[in-house]
Amino acid sequence: MVFPRILAIVLCFLGSVVAIPVMPSVAGCDSLGTNASDTAARPFTLAALNTTLPNANSTGAPLVLGQNGEIEGAEFEVLSTWASFPDNDWPTLSLDTGGLYGNSQTQYQAVSSGATNGTTVNFMTTSRTSYANQVFCIVPSPLGLPLLALDGHVDEFSLCSNGKESQNNVIYNATHKSYEYNYSTCYPVVLQVVEGL
Ligand SMILES: *[C@@H]1O[C@H](CO)[C@@H](O)[C@H](O)[C@H]1NC(C)=O
Ligand SMILES: *[C@@H]1O[C@H](CO)[C@@H](O)[C@H](O)[C@H]1NC(C)=O
Ligand SMILES: *[C@@H]1O[C@H](CO)[C@@H](O)[C@H](O)[C@H]1NC(C)=O
Ligand SMILES: *[C@@H]1O[C@H](CO)[C@@H](O)[C@H](O)[C@H]1NC(C)=O
Ligand SMILES: *[C@@H]1O[C@H](CO)[C@@H](O)[C@H](O)[C@H]1NC(C)=O
Ligand SMILES: *[C@@H]1O[C@H](CO)[C@@H](O)[C@H](O)[C@H]1NC(C)=O
Repeated sequence: MVFPRILAIVLCFLGSVVAIPVMPSVAGCDSLGTNASDTAARPFTLAALNTTLPNANSTGAPLVLGQNGEIEGAEFEVLSTWASFPDNDWPTLSLDTGGLYGNSQTQYQAVSSGATNGTTVNFMTTSRTSYANQVFCIVPSPLGLPLLALDGHVDEFSLCSNGKESQNNVIYNATHKSYEYNYSTCYPVVLQVVEGL
């Protein structure tokens, strides 16, 4: 009989199609070990821990979404230290399928477009639809709290002063070529994922 054979082939084909969303699809998550995840079960906050300078404590400096300008219909945010931007309109973050979101209690959710080499980690808040760039994952660390990764890297983040406002912002793969921040103020950090709010 030919029919069951065709059915088997069709089922096999469907099986492979259905299996695709189950595979971790986010850029770089796979390379960070089997326990790296592109989705967090609960909301969390981030804290920056120095990797070369002494730390005040093992949790790190709390991060918030700091201002980064606006245009008609949209506001922009970056990851800033709470110490340099003492305001917190998005008290928690969420990670869903590699997309990073700032959760607001009063306004619109902030949606992250990620970063490119040498730039801030960017967010946009708008009443229109905006899409998250699926580039983040959370990686368990044997040394302490889990770490946030971007594009498969946990070790490319720095804190740098943006100069005039003295806002200390998270930069991905910092470079001396940027006018967005003063490179000589940069120091490397990892972004620890703090849960239990
Ligand atoms: C992943 O997590 C499991 C359960 O906690 C642990 O046994 C295993 O060693 C972890 N694997 C890696 C690569 O960290
Ligand atoms: C990291 O080092 C900088 C510069 O010395 C300091 O301002 C900051 O508080 C340190 N971060 C922590 C978490 O201690
Ligand atoms: C130490 O950790 C606490 C708890 O996360 C935080 O509120 C505080 O700002 C940290 N201290 C520094 C200097 O970063
Ligand atoms: C940074 O540059 C490298 C080399 O060109 C590239 O592979 C990588 O995707 C870039 N990272 C980001 C986040 O754009
Ligand atoms: C960092 O950026 C430089 C270009 O400025 C690029 O050559 C390098 O590959 C980047 N590193 C990573 C880890 O993407
Ligand atoms: C950049 O920071 C360094 C060290 O704090 C400072 O000496 C320099 O004047 C700053 N440059 C600019 C253009 O603000």
